[in-house]
Amino acid sequence: MSTEVINFNTKKILKNFVKWILSPKKNMHGNYITNLLGHKIFSVLANTFFYKIKPFKITKEDQISRSLYNDGIVAIDNFLDDKEFAYVNEKLKEFEEKNHFNYSENRDNSNTNWIHGKLLNVNHEHVKTIEILNKSFNKYIPYVEQVMKKRLHDNPSFNYQHIILPKDKTDINDHNAYWHPDRYYHCVKVFLILDDIEIEHGPYGYMLKSHKTSVQRLKNEYVNSLWFHNYKNKSREYKEKNIYKKKTDYLDHLEKKFFTCKKNTLIISDNKGFHKRGRMHPGYERRMIRVLFYDHMIPKFLYDIKKFLTRKYDKKKLKRLSSKVN
Ligand SMILES: [Fe+2]
Repeated sequence: MSTEVINFNTKKILKNFVKWILSPKKNMHGNYITNLLGHKIFSVLANTFFYKIKPFKITKEDQISRSLYNDGIVAIDNFLDDKEFAYVNEKLKEFEEKNHFNYSENRDNSNTNWIHGKLLNVNHEHVKTIEILNKSFNKYIPYVEQVMKKRLHDNPSFNYQHIILPKDKTDINDHNAYWHPDRYYHCVKVFLILDDIEIEHGPYGYMLKSHKTSVQRLKNEYVNSLWFHNYKNKSREYKEKNIYKKKTDYLDHLEKKFFTCKKNTLIISDNKGFHKRGRMHPGYERRMIRVLFYDHMIPKFLYDIKKFLTRKYDKKKLKRLSSKVN
């Protein structure tokens, strides 16, 4: 472990300890002292344990299911039938032309421009497209449910995403373009690829098997929990110039796969694993539909205990909020 990761500065440790005692709110990242003592490792192990004992009936035991379990990711060709795909793709282009989506220039200071937004049931022009997508999505929902050990009752929400990198620009910054997990418990992102993706389009990258709770992953979580506080305590100037990149010291031996693929491919990704947005080459663009499935795996009784312990704080917060409204 390098010394830049853990700075054993007694004054700093004491300062953080006092801060922690006085602070009524303990966020999901814990704090320097608790992380130093291994709070993060405890959190990961507790969540993994409760996830493992959570009863859930497995309904799919095929290659897709095995890939998701073993690698944390799977790519499925020809998701929609050709006619349906052509219809959906044409409609999405039409919605984009009609400005149904938002436009973000130079998003996250990455030099990329984004046209992005949700397909909405309340928009009558979107309804048929949503219907077609739902019909095919429902076939794959059981795989998502297996990863999350949770039955999903609502139809998914479809997010359109069109990213463009101008010819004279370089794709830079953006913490999503560096290896990171979204959560340290299972959560799923599904992508429907709308145009062929070559390396120049910046394909999605995934560290195979990094979704598993292993000794290496725990060591990595530990290093990152301290690294985060190291970054958090830096000056604003430093943060403006340096984006927060997670460390991958203990996972670098894993195979990194970049998903170049044909249009109409569905990618199901367990984002407990390390992944990143691919860097685009100048003058290239890519379009996809993204669907997110996140869920806290904390059992209800632990949630209730947490609620009970933070009740006083929550009441104070509510009071503050209501006084603001008044
Ligand atoms: Fe992510």
